[in-house]
Amino acid sequence: MDQFVIEGGVPLRGTVQVSGAKNAALPILAATLLADGPCRLEGVPDLRDIRTMLRILEELGVEAGREEDGTITTRVVDPTRVRAPYELVKTMRASICVLGPLLGRRRRAEVSFPGGCVIGPRPVDLHLTGLEALGARIVVEAGYIGAEGADLHGGGELYLGGPFGPTVTGTANVLSAAVLAPGTTIIQCAACEPEIVDLARFLVAMGARIEGIGSPTLVIHGVERLKGTNWKVIPDRIEAGTLACAAAMTGGDVVIEGLDTTAMTAPLTVLERMGVGLERREDGSLRVIGVGRPKPADVVTLPYPGFPTDLQAQFMALLCVADGNSFVTEKIYPERFIHVAELQRLGARIRKEGASAIVTGVPELTGAPVMASDLRASAALVVAGLAARGTTTVERVYHIDRGYERIEEKLRGLGARIERCNPARTEAAAAGS
Ligand code: EPU
Repeated sequence: MDQFVIEGGVPLRGTVQVSGAKNAALPILAATLLADGPCRLEGVPDLRDIRTMLRILEELGVEAGREEDGTITTRVVDPTRVRAPYELVKTMRASICVLGPLLGRRRRAEVSFPGGCVIGPRPVDLHLTGLEALGARIVVEAGYIGAEGADLHGGGELYLGGPFGPTVTGTANVLSAAVLAPGTTIIQCAACEPEIVDLARFLVAMGARIEGIGSPTLVIHGVERLKGTNWKVIPDRIEAGTLACAAAMTGGDVVIEGLDTTAMTAPLTVLERMGVGLERREDGSLRVIGVGRPKPADVVTLPYPGFPTDLQAQFMALLCVADGNSFVTEKIYPERFIHVAELQRLGARIRKEGASAIVTGVPELTGAPVMASDLRASAALVVAGLAARGTTTVERVYHIDRGYERIEEKLRGLGARIERCNPARTEAAAAGS
């Protein structure tokens, strides 16, 4: 298994380009199942999760491939296939995003029930009740969600809020089924995340009729068919935020290009409160200047436009070296604190209290071997390792590869000393020589 070996303490400097958003590209790729013609998607990052989605689409009778310039093309060749198998779904929860499009276009779906997750319970009850409101019949059997929609129709007014607010992929699923359901569906408490806005706009480009995009109330008038279209996926605000944390934590000076700062008001405001220098430039790029120890800050994760849970771990890494006590509260995934124990291995002082953590900043972290456990927790360990004195080895970087495109290359381009190694391969090569 690959690991990252990081020699920390180098201030990052230079310019870096943000990739397309994984969490927009995944439901958009799934929504190509709805199209009667081919789709061309630009800005889809080359990631493990994206490759998993392409394999699922192939299982579902879609010819999908990446052209030399990175564009993804999709074309439905066998619309009779409706089963997303456990072997693929178990590796990526976002596989559930094919449920709504399959039901909408093929009126039938069999999608493996996504399993457990290290960031806490992640039920899909809201997805299912939302689809039932559109007339779908849902049966869970042998680990699969079976959905049948011969009588799919507009769902009238339905509520998608759960105990922690709206559901992001649940909104994607219900929206993607409702666009082809005759009649009107009004989704109340729809997720407002920029990734859902991108999906909705993509659906409109295919011919869907959706009002209220970007608001918690989506009004969908079902249409008979959707055509294929060309689309450019929005930039990844979570990758941009992760790079900003790395720049700030190493005391660096980094220009992040190709991002959309308007989708990042909450995290950028927190950085400003911490005293990190931010310069929003006319060309749309963002300059991040780290200035000594940051000030402490309180972070509460919330649905968009609140602070994103997907940046909680990376900000916690930064707060570990703040000059004082910070309070981090998780309101989306109360158990998403798996990074705490690993950050402690680097010398961080963190006390967890229920769904909160009190972070007492220390002057510096020191390198150590740490274990990646989920995508964003791993990103936090890389951010911390870049700033820590000495060597940090991050094991199981396949978690990072799920969601960050060429991360070590991008960081090396900023002067970071980070190498991808595979001890088993190195040993085998040595034994063979
Ligand atoms: N929830 C329910 N019932 C449901 C669905 C969700 O109770 O049917 C709860 C969840 O347990 C959670 C909250 O509602 O407490 C929000 O979950 P949501 O459904 O919004 O999450 P998701 O759609 O499964 C997406 C992202 C996650 C991101 C969350 C929150 C994708 C592919 N995934 O997940 O991204 O953390 O929204 O913003 O878009 C990541 O990229 O690392 C990642 C985990």
